[in-house]
Amino acid sequence: MFIVFEGGEGAGKSTAIESVAEELRKRGYSIVVTREPGGGLGKEIDELIKKNLNITPLPELFLFMAERAAHIENVIEPALREGKIVLCDRFYHSTLAYQGYGRGIPLELIEKVDEIARQGLLPDVVFLLDLPEEIGLLRTERADRIEKESMVFHKRVREGYLRFAEDDPSIRKIDATKPREEVLQDILKVLLLMVSVQQSV
Ligand code: TMP
Repeated sequence: MFIVFEGGEGAGKSTAIESVAEELRKRGYSIVVTREPGGGLGKEIDELIKKNLNITPLPELFLFMAERAAHIENVIEPALREGKIVLCDRFYHSTLAYQGYGRGIPLELIEKVDEIARQGLLPDVVFLLDLPEEIGLLRTERADRIEKESMVFHKRVREGYLRFAEDDPSIRKIDATKPREEVLQDILKVLLLMVSVQQSV
């Protein structure tokens, strides 16, 4: 199973993923935790993307695409083939939200290149950890190039995510303003059911 966690800055994805992984491991499932950017081409690409100050939207998009293609080939597909549950911090909705809604690249153009990078892989479920951008940004250090973008940019990113969630039943919106434990329980309620149904098939 391929499970993706999405959301704006400071939504608490990393903490939620760690806790979900722990709960699933306790129940005997074999779990791989990974992330974009950084899961495919290594932490250097993560650093490059976050620190390169002169990059414009189109080359930035292609860096994310190169990372995604490598991530799928080197990490996600092999783990799925071995029957593992993959928990992934960000996937293609991040690109649509950040490069599309945030940077203003037409969504159709992103979809075209993402389709090539993604090689047909789609998540079984996407947990969208949603919270107002001003709360999320207060929780971060706003240290990197993307975090430092304006409040208006991050507001557009959130709007994008919320629109995707309206149209796509594979996206489960989670209220990330709730305390951590409640966020975890909201995710587990959906996930444990899905995992047990898959196992019984
Ligand atoms: P994170 O490590 O805090 O999740 O940061 C990753 C950053 O990269 C975050 O600001 C969102 C951004 N991002 C994109 O802009 N497009 C993408 O396709 C992905 C995967 C991430």
